[in-house]
Amino acid sequence: MTAEEIIKLKENALKECQAAGTMNELEAVRVRYIGRNGYLPQVMKGLKDVDPSERSEYGRIANEFKNQVSAALDYKKTELAERGTAEAKSVFDYSLPGVWRSLGTKHPISSIIEETVRIFGKLGFTVAEGPDVETAYHNFEALNTPAHHPSLDQTDTFWFETGELLRTQTSPVQIRVMESRKPPIRIITPGRCYRRDTTDATHSANFHQIEGLYVEKNVSLADLKGTLAYFAKEMMGTGVDIRFRPHFFPFTEPSVECDFTCHVCGGKGCRVCKNSGWIEIAGAGMVDPRVFKKVGYDPEEITGYAFGMGIERIAMIKYSINDIRLLYENDARFLSQFI
Ligand code: DAH
Repeated sequence: MTAEEIIKLKENALKECQAAGTMNELEAVRVRYIGRNGYLPQVMKGLKDVDPSERSEYGRIANEFKNQVSAALDYKKTELAERGTAEAKSVFDYSLPGVWRSLGTKHPISSIIEETVRIFGKLGFTVAEGPDVETAYHNFEALNTPAHHPSLDQTDTFWFETGELLRTQTSPVQIRVMESRKPPIRIITPGRCYRRDTTDATHSANFHQIEGLYVEKNVSLADLKGTLAYFAKEMMGTGVDIRFRPHFFPFTEPSVECDFTCHVCGGKGCRVCKNSGWIEIAGAGMVDPRVFKKVGYDPEEITGYAFGMGIERIAMIKYSINDIRLLYENDARFLSQFI
């Protein structure tokens, strides 16, 4: 092979290198030009037949052939490898639907509490809180509940050996607030309550209440009724009215139970209200003078109303939930329906 032939061969090799579109094509170029059975061994072998005066020039051209073709092969190999990764990446299909992370939603109990706080907030009520572990004094005695009252029974209340208990109602917060403040007082107190109830569709040993307390001079039952009527419309809809039925609570006198018009049938009577047209929502009344005495207020001078209602009950009525246990199971399929 002459020096010119080697140069021509080199140029062809470089062109073919350049043209190779895949690793396989490139490998074929390598085998043909510098592989063991390719051109390179022939080129090297030809050296010994060359006239000694031209041998160094031939050697230089032969080396150039080997080096340049090897370099071109390496260069092309890197280029093809990089293109391969880029193509692999571009396999991502932008038209596929995305994978959504599911967001949490507000628990219905939290929603009812927030809504209640908002509604009473517009009437000037602020939020007060008290401990879940209460003294018997705050939970019962100061609320004019005598020691023989059935709610003090072992079977109704969770007692600690210390004589303390898990509060059975949010009413003790009334006492704590009145003990520490002077009238006027206008508070609502959302919180957990505990009773030794066996769990079923409408009972839970752990539930929530919201208590309200308004203490000032010249507060009347009419003020209580106006306030609860406003709350009923804001919470359930403008068509909802309220009624009072006489009742008894140890800490209010007079005491009432407050019903809302059934928001499902509008008062005509349906399954939800058991055909009565009304749904019982709250206990309420005028603060008993004995309660005022316990906290050091003068009942001749000071008046007030109080009310308490079950948050689960409002949630169940408002959202048509027929089993209280659904509220505690934390099943995302249930909870995600309340946004
Ligand atoms: N604490 C009562 C209960 O758990 C509800 C209640 C009734 C609260 C009358 C009050 C009230 O503040 O005045 O059944």
